[in-house]
Amino acid sequence: MMKVGILTRRPDAWCSSRLAEAFSRLGAEVSFLSFRRLSGQVSMRPLASHRAPDLRAIEELDALVIRPIGRGSLEQIIFRMDLLRRLEAEGVVVVNPPEAIEICSDKYHALWLMESAGIPVPRTVATEDVQVAMRAFYELGRDVVVKPLFGSRGIGSVRATDPDAALRLFRSIAFQRGVIYMQEFIPHGNYDVRAFVIGGRVVAAMRRVARGWKKNVYLGARPEPYELPAELEELAVRAAEATKCEVAGVDILPSERGPLVIEVNSQPSWRGLQSVSKTDIAMEIARYVLSRAKDG
Ligand SMILES: Nc1ncnc2c1ncn2[C@@H]1O[C@H](COP(=O)(O)OP(=O)(O)O)[C@@H](O)[C@H]1O
Ligand SMILES: [Mg+2]
Repeated sequence: MMKVGILTRRPDAWCSSRLAEAFSRLGAEVSFLSFRRLSGQVSMRPLASHRAPDLRAIEELDALVIRPIGRGSLEQIIFRMDLLRRLEAEGVVVVNPPEAIEICSDKYHALWLMESAGIPVPRTVATEDVQVAMRAFYELGRDVVVKPLFGSRGIGSVRATDPDAALRLFRSIAFQRGVIYMQEFIPHGNYDVRAFVIGGRVVAAMRRVARGWKKNVYLGARPEPYELPAELEELAVRAAEATKCEVAGVDILPSERGPLVIEVNSQPSWRGLQSVSKTDIAMEIARYVLSRAKDG
């Protein structure tokens, strides 16, 4: 029997419970793990353990699925990633791979990898320097979106068109020792596109419709069924590949100069997407993970 772990903050969250159900239906033994209960041992066995409530070795798992790793201190995040890397080195199939999670949690990193792969992305500047940021604000046409470098769900992203507001924002980010991550604003009408990629294949897609410029379902955008054109399908698959994701939620903005990829989510939710898709997305993920685990 295949042993699969789901690493999540909330086992009762919709996506995680769907996933657990799918694994069970496929005959795998599922357990929920939480980051706070993980330990790594060196020169001692087990190499990695989970306490719930007894310590249990986890390097024997065949596969481990990572749901949102959430916020944490720099120390926690680095330690968590190190633990995942060690498990991977021990032969546990980790989905997404730690490398993909690392790449995608940093929007700048994901974007330059996509640019290198020839994927169209918006013009973007990342800097700690307020003067450079101001110059870029003008260069990008005085209409920019400033996003948290490590953000998600549209939280904290702001659009700036006023130089005074932009300057104040940049100064306050710099003051907090943040990184200013700024992108030209792309007029895209009332929807954007989310494509869900599993193992190099798009399994579902939707339009996210909203009046405001942020089209995150979390912020109230309405999922709509969408027949993904072949061109966008190819783009989404290449974006997942460029960022090393085996499972990916790829965000695509339609624009005057064609579709632009704005980000790749390495731990995407699929609740909104499932509401407008016929494919059982949790089942697709579970099948993929088990087939990877069988291949060793
Ligand atoms: N450069 C941009 N121009 C216009 N709208 C944007 C731009 N970047 C992001 N958006 C809108 O904001 C939403 C959130 O941005 P995104 O880069 O996906 O970050 P998050 O991780 O917060 O989802 C997108 O779904 C899109 O609707
Ligand atoms: Mg997004």
